[in-house]
Amino acid sequence: MRFQKEREKILIVDFGSQITKLIGRNIRELGVYSEILTPQELKKLKNFEKIKGVILSGGPSSVTSKKFPTIPKQLFEKKIPILGICYGLQLIAKLFGGKIKPSKTTREFGRAYLIKKSSSLLTKNFLKKKTLVWMSHEDAVVKLPLNFKVVASTNNSKLTIIEHQNKNIYGVQFHPEVTHTNNGKQIFKNFLFLICKIKKNWNIPSQKIRLIKEIRKKVKNAKVICALSGGVDSSVVALLINRAIKKNLICIMVDTGLMRKNEFKDTYRIFKKRYKLNVKLIDASKLFLKKLKYISGPEKKRKVIGKLFIRVFESEAKKYRNIKFLAQGTLYPDIIESRSSTGSKTSKIKSHHNVGGLPKKMKFKLIEPLKDFFKDEVRILGRSLNLINKINFKHPFPGPGLGIRIIGNVTPEKVKILQEADFIFINELIENNLYNKIWQAYAALLPIKTVGVMGDSRTYEYVCLLRAVTSQDGMTADYFNFSKNFLDRISNRIVNNVKGINRVVYDITSKPPSTIELE
Ligand code: XMP
Repeated sequence: MRFQKEREKILIVDFGSQITKLIGRNIRELGVYSEILTPQELKKLKNFEKIKGVILSGGPSSVTSKKFPTIPKQLFEKKIPILGICYGLQLIAKLFGGKIKPSKTTREFGRAYLIKKSSSLLTKNFLKKKTLVWMSHEDAVVKLPLNFKVVASTNNSKLTIIEHQNKNIYGVQFHPEVTHTNNGKQIFKNFLFLICKIKKNWNIPSQKIRLIKEIRKKVKNAKVICALSGGVDSSVVALLINRAIKKNLICIMVDTGLMRKNEFKDTYRIFKKRYKLNVKLIDASKLFLKKLKYISGPEKKRKVIGKLFIRVFESEAKKYRNIKFLAQGTLYPDIIESRSSTGSKTSKIKSHHNVGGLPKKMKFKLIEPLKDFFKDEVRILGRSLNLINKINFKHPFPGPGLGIRIIGNVTPEKVKILQEADFIFINELIENNLYNKIWQAYAALLPIKTVGVMGDSRTYEYVCLLRAVTSQDGMTADYFNFSKNFLDRISNRIVNNVKGINRVVYDITSKPPSTIELE
């Protein structure tokens, strides 16, 4: 369990909602430290001294079932303010003797408007004449628990915001953590500063100083090795550790040949020349492309790329002596996702986050300086380390690279074609000020050839697919709405400049039902 005893905090109990992380982010953005625990972890907790407030998240369970995840009732006696959101509200109502109904008539999905019923500190400067909130629930509280009052209702559910009359316990049926709720942050602000009375204690630049000190203390004179990809996470890790221990950090960049055009060598130069890091570039592209020539299944490709990466990294690492630590860019969401609110031990960490299992084999101690941070916070940290925007705000890029954007088998010829098309696409986005409005964008090469006509001759070439999505964290995504002008230009530029492509299509599916990558 990750729990920092010494720091004042707001505790978030995760009942398995997909968006619990957003609660954590909202609190952190307000300058307050928050941690997310499962109900099982909460049960084991002994010391509540530094906990200034508890938020119970939403989740897929129902308190009307025989068994449902819960919290120890003693928590209500500790005088710590509590806010329940969705399932959290229903749980509070259940534990205080209210009635909850799994009803088709009370369920609400999407927008709803609040109607004020009474005043509350929780809703100060939040409730307006018409307050739009976002709902997503089947069960509803239909009988108010003892000693509670109603603060707000909607047309469909009477008990949308409730409050205990003597204790600092509150419940909201809607989701203040999502942007569809108007001014939802005000609910958190009121809870933190008016109700919990916690002081601001979290800002990223001061965390940088703490991290650098901690790394120095932990590493001492030992050597640290790090796989640097040029993505924001590994770049921030490298800069942080470099600030702490300088030349004792060895960064290894493995060029798989599956990166974007010029990107790898540019990144190498930036880290070597601008940041003066101890970086070693290994060109393993021939090896990777040779292995991938006859493989077309997406999972097989991922495995082959992952295994080869480990082999190359390992054989390079062996050349250095006295390496004690392996640095990784594990983020807080990876830690949260790797455990389950239902207590199962299934690890959901994506394999790329532990560099394909390197630590187990190589017996390094791990150093993971970003494991308390969300992605947005890593970017603030990046800025305070003078990481250039080109890297700090780079779109996410999958570990297997273009290997999973060339559908079917991968050949050097296809890599070259795709790199050119992708280069044109990304540059057009940058030139048109669209890059930062999009969460992730890329070109992919489909394994089909179609007929075209160029000048007087018939062509028979590949189809290039373009994908651009907006998203908050990659869990869900919408396709980006380009203007017709932009689509015209990009299609013209790609077909006219990239030999091997004679057709461009734009992917207009969201996630779900599709995924962001094609493979
Ligand atoms: P999907 O395709 O699952 O992608 O909607 C969600 C996010 O994860 C990235 N992704 C990967 N990243 N190794 C990675 O490092 C992988 O195998 C991998 N597969 C998907 C994807 O680019 C998107 O940002």
